[in-house]
Amino acid sequence: MPHPGTILVIGATGTTGSRLVRRLVDTGHPVRAAARRPRPAVGAESASFDWNDPDTHRPALDGTAAVYLIPPPGTLDPVPVMLPFLDLARRAGVRRAVLLSSSQVESGGPGAGGVHRVLPELFPEWAVLRPSWFMQNLTGQHQHAEAIRRDGLLVTATGGGRVAFVDADDIAAVAAHALTDPVPHNTDRVLTGPRPLSYAEAAAVLSEATGRPVRHRPVTVAEMTARYAPFMPEEFAAMLAGLDGAIAEGAEDRVTEEVERVTGRPPRSFEEHVRAAVAAGERTATAAS
Ligand SMILES: NC(=O)c1ccc[n+]([C@@H]2O[C@H](COP(=O)([O-])OP(=O)(O)OC[C@H]3O[C@@H](n4cnc5c(N)ncnc54)[C@H](OP(=O)(O)O)[C@@H]3O)[C@@H](O)[C@H]2O)c1
Repeated sequence: MPHPGTILVIGATGTTGSRLVRRLVDTGHPVRAAARRPRPAVGAESASFDWNDPDTHRPALDGTAAVYLIPPPGTLDPVPVMLPFLDLARRAGVRRAVLLSSSQVESGGPGAGGVHRVLPELFPEWAVLRPSWFMQNLTGQHQHAEAIRRDGLLVTATGGGRVAFVDADDIAAVAAHALTDPVPHNTDRVLTGPRPLSYAEAAAVLSEATGRPVRHRPVTVAEMTARYAPFMPEEFAAMLAGLDGAIAEGAEDRVTEEVERVTGRPPRSFEEHVRAAVAAGERTATAAS
C-alpha cells in the first residue's frame, strides 16, 4: 500500500465487496468492512455504514487511506448522497478512491457516472471499475439465479444480444490492485469475461453443468419492467429493463483485456464459473446433510 492506513470497503457484505475484503485480508492489508448490517469477517474490522445516515460516515473514515465505493443501491442519481461523504473523506485524508460503476455508464453519464466525473477532481489517486454483467447474477442470490433454481427459467429483454459476463472474483481482484498498487491507476476500466454469450447460450451452459434444464424466455422491455417493479422503485425497474434492451441491440457484445492487464491472468469463463458454483453447492449440501 503506497499510503499506509486502513482500506474502507463499502458494501463489504455484497457480491464484490465480500470477495474484495477476503483478498485484502489475505494479502495483509488493514481492512474496515462496512455495511448497514456488517458481518464479522476474519482479519477485518467491521463498521456500520449507511449512505443515508451521515452519523455513520465520519467513524468509518477514521484512519482510512483508501476507499472502495459502491453507490447506494436502487438510486438513479447517487451524487447528492455520495458527494458529501466523498468531500468528508478527502478532508479526512483519504487519498485513493475506487468506484464500482458499470460498463454501460460513461463518466458524466447516469447513475454512478456523475460520481465518476468528479472522482479525479476529489482524489489524487482514483480508479473507476466498469464491469459488464456479473456471472453471479445467474448463480448467486440475484433474482435471475433464484428463477433459474426455482423454475429453470431465465427471463430477460435481451433477445439474442450477447454479454461478456464477468466473474465478481475477477472484479474484486482488479479492485484489490486498484486500491493497493504502488502506482495509482487513475483511469476507468471496462471489465468483461473472456467471451460474449447470449442468455440462451448461458442457459445451455447452466443446463449442462447442473443436469437440470434451464431455458431463456425473451420478453419485451415493458414486460421486464413489470417483472422488476415489485422489487424496486418503478423508475429504477424501467432503467434496468432498458439496459436489457441495450444488450439486445449489441451494447455488451465485446470483450476487453483489462482483467488480464491488471491481474496478470485471464478472466474466468462462464463455464468455469458455473462448474465451480455447482461444486461449491454440492459441498454445502453434503456438509449440511
Ligand atoms: N450485478 C451486475 O451484473 C452489475 C453489473 C455492473 C455493475 N453493477 C453494480 O454493482 C453495484 C452493486 O455491487 P455488489 O453487487 O458488489 O453489491 P451487492 O451484492 O448488491 O450488495 C450491496 C452491498 O451494499 C450494502 N448496502 C446496501 N444498502 C446500503 C446503504 N444504504 N448504505 C450502505 N451500504 C449499503 C449491502 O449491505 P447492507 O444491506 O447490510 O447494508 C451490501 O454489502 C451496483 O452499483 C451495480 O450498479 C452490478
